[in-house]
Amino acid sequence: MKFIRSEVIGHGHYAPAKVLTNDDMAQMVETSDEWITTRTGIKARHVVEDEINSDLSLKAAQMALKTAQIGAEDLDVVILATVTPDYTTPATAIRIASQLGVKPGTPAFDMSAACSGFVYALAMADNMIRLGQAKTALVIGAETLSKITDWTDRNTCVLFGDGAGAVVLRAHEGNGNSQDVGILATKLFADGTHFDNLRTTGGVSATQNAGFVSMDGKEVFKFAVNSMPEAAEAAMQEAGITAQEVDWIIPHQANIRIIENVGKKLNISDEKVIVNIANYGNTSAATIPMALSERMSDGTIKKGDVVVLTAMGAGFTWGGAVIRL
Ligand code: ACO
Repeated sequence: MKFIRSEVIGHGHYAPAKVLTNDDMAQMVETSDEWITTRTGIKARHVVEDEINSDLSLKAAQMALKTAQIGAEDLDVVILATVTPDYTTPATAIRIASQLGVKPGTPAFDMSAACSGFVYALAMADNMIRLGQAKTALVIGAETLSKITDWTDRNTCVLFGDGAGAVVLRAHEGNGNSQDVGILATKLFADGTHFDNLRTTGGVSATQNAGFVSMDGKEVFKFAVNSMPEAAEAAMQEAGITAQEVDWIIPHQANIRIIENVGKKLNISDEKVIVNIANYGNTSAATIPMALSERMSDGTIKKGDVVVLTAMGAGFTWGGAVIRL
């Protein structure tokens, strides 16, 4: 019996040109390069000047279509994972889809699952492909977190950055086993009892403004160090993939200590853990697709490799995915 898988056929990434280094941050709040580097692994972050989310998304999406060697007219759905859309409504994905030149009538929508957003959106697109609702899907993770950052709060402002990453998925016939090419498993989780540990101080319905990111860093840290390895493990188990078979793990880039812990807990060696947090900081839904695309572009991650994704974010939400590229 034929088994539909979602194969990654294209990838793209983009970050705005303006860079704020840790020394720049030290000019804005009472902090230091030493504190930020040792606590988080972050050395710099990119921030938008005139660009908005759809500008970043469009650049990443265009690169993804190019590497996939397809046109926008081939897309059957566009999904954007973000917590920083251009406008409250309509969905930013719809604007991106029309800017790309998709066929009129092609569904497009945003997904809000914070730092887990890309894994959630990937799962959604994979489900649509496997159900036959789409053959080709564009999945983007993009954020302008600088717009919801309180630049006077040293607890948060040193952590975040702006950027976008994207993949193109296409239906591919597999055998239904762990040797198939494509997305082998996705696992999603949420627990609203942690709602207040990490959220914005405002929101459309509650306060009629977006607010700023506010968090209990220690609670987030404690939850992330357990939930991210657990989500990865759950997805690996579902996929039938062992730690020895994993070529790369791409953890959500929130903090170097959280990232390194994922590999250790899963018994996956440090060289297999993809890290780019130093250059970008935490770009929420964009970290995973940016890192995947960067490393595919430079040839580190190759066709055929088994890649595990894992993320955790506000909600709390968390999730994992296993892909054979
Ligand atoms: N520069 C200097 N000092 C700072 C800074 C800063 N930028 N930020 C906080 N501090 C101070 C605090 O005021 C506090 O001082 P106090 O003890 O006098 O009150 C002290 O540093 C806190 O130090 P630690 O407890 O050692 O900090 P910790 O090791 O917990 O690191 C951090 C803080 C980096 C925020 C950590 O808790 C963390 O990474 N948590 C995860 C949060 C996260 O990644 N959030 C991103 C969004 S969620 C996600 O993506 C999963």
